[in-house]
Amino acid sequence: MYLSASRKPPSRKGSMHDVPNDLMKHIHELEKMFTIDTPKLHEIVSVFQEELIKGLSVAGGTIPMNPTWVIGYPTGDETGTYLALDMGGTNLRVCEVELPEEKGQYEICQSKYRLPEEIKSGTGEQLFDYIAECVKQFLVANHDGQDVKDLKELHLGFTFSYPCEQNAIDHGILQRWTKGFDIEGVEGHDVVPMFEAALERKGVPIKITALVNDTTGTLIASAYTDNTTRIGCIFGTGCNAAYMETVGSIPKLAHMNLDPKLDIAINCEWGAFDNEHRVLPRTVYDKHIDEHSPRPGQQTFEKMVAGLYLGEIFRLVLVDLHSNPDVKIFEKQDISALQTEYSLDSSFLAEIESDPWENLMETHALFEKKLKIETTEPERKLIRRLSELIGTRAARLSACGVAAICKMKNIESCHVGADGSVFNKYPNFQERGAKALREIFGWGRAVRKDPIQIVPSEDGSGVGAALIAALTMKRIRGGIHAGVNVKRKNSLIPPVP
Ligand code: BGC
Repeated sequence: MYLSASRKPPSRKGSMHDVPNDLMKHIHELEKMFTIDTPKLHEIVSVFQEELIKGLSVAGGTIPMNPTWVIGYPTGDETGTYLALDMGGTNLRVCEVELPEEKGQYEICQSKYRLPEEIKSGTGEQLFDYIAECVKQFLVANHDGQDVKDLKELHLGFTFSYPCEQNAIDHGILQRWTKGFDIEGVEGHDVVPMFEAALERKGVPIKITALVNDTTGTLIASAYTDNTTRIGCIFGTGCNAAYMETVGSIPKLAHMNLDPKLDIAINCEWGAFDNEHRVLPRTVYDKHIDEHSPRPGQQTFEKMVAGLYLGEIFRLVLVDLHSNPDVKIFEKQDISALQTEYSLDSSFLAEIESDPWENLMETHALFEKKLKIETTEPERKLIRRLSELIGTRAARLSACGVAAICKMKNIESCHVGADGSVFNKYPNFQERGAKALREIFGWGRAVRKDPIQIVPSEDGSGVGAALIAALTMKRIRGGIHAGVNVKRKNSLIPPVP
């Protein structure tokens, strides 16, 4: 049925009765390839749990489980003004965050800058100079009449959302670039002195108080306003989670003789899950993406679920179908626009999934405009089903990570603070993830409210980073070492005497 624009329904569940048999056959093949049924969910969660535990062990595993030196949750009493810098996969954001006397409140003033594409494959110096310049511009614009050189007292929480090994909260050695970044001379180095040197070159005398992962920021920011938060997740360009672990359950920290009851945030870096290919049902398209990425063999899980890759998986399937003589799709059409790698991002799939019309006329317009391809209605039904399959697989796999942390920690009920473009903007992602959690935990109809819920978080890389800077300063000012025996040169964190 054809609905009028004034009664646009939120989404539609299309019928496939008019799709010719040959296309239907290919739709069924795609369904087989991309569907993760309940038994497979259980299998993945169980291996995931094993791998999380391995990551905490002395021998280690492929999931890094990086201790962040963020010690304990905020109390809500943190105060002060902090700078927060967020280097995400796509944008750069500089914020000034004010934590007032009122518990759990904050005010934020921010500027966003696009990360130029060429920076992602340039040199470390170019990257950090660009970021330092943005910080300088922000300070000049927001501190009218003050000389930037006099802003030494500002404390900066730097959200750098890539896997870093941290021996102190204000240091971090980049383990590897992810999310398609390939910048020379940074992997294996401490990013803090590199960035501080760039700030110095720009005449900005600010020091980094805390190097923060976006998931840790999300965990802390969410816990600041909701004390049932136990996990922070990002479902965006990349995918990852952080949670609080007790030191006594982290064998790889045993040699530090810390208080075993201490809570420390662990940045899981779960994007690396299943790099050894034990359990995830990878398709030929996932394998192609991995093999042609700047870091083949890395981030296996992330490459199946994160926003950077969803559009590319979709594109590869369509190009493959078109080249198959048995499939009649986009016949006699020039598909050159579709042949450009990474030309479609996850927002393209999101638009297809939000098309409310039975004949998918918005999808028709989208293909025409973006790819110069005219589609027939049966082709659009395949396109729609393919988007649903890719989006649903991402949501269900993401739920496996959340379930694995909860099972490992015996968490029976909690909120999981989540952020990122896929979580916030991809239609049905949240519902599909919630459904997968119900299947994993076996919550039947009798369970009226899901005990574990993934909910939208507070601003992790702004407020979260500021809170982490505040928590760090509180420890430094109070002379409390929180039992952390960290002896790194130049660290702000005083070592235990
Ligand atoms: C990074 C993580 C980050 C995640 C979400 C991944 O590629 O390795 O550090 O938390 O993306 O931004």
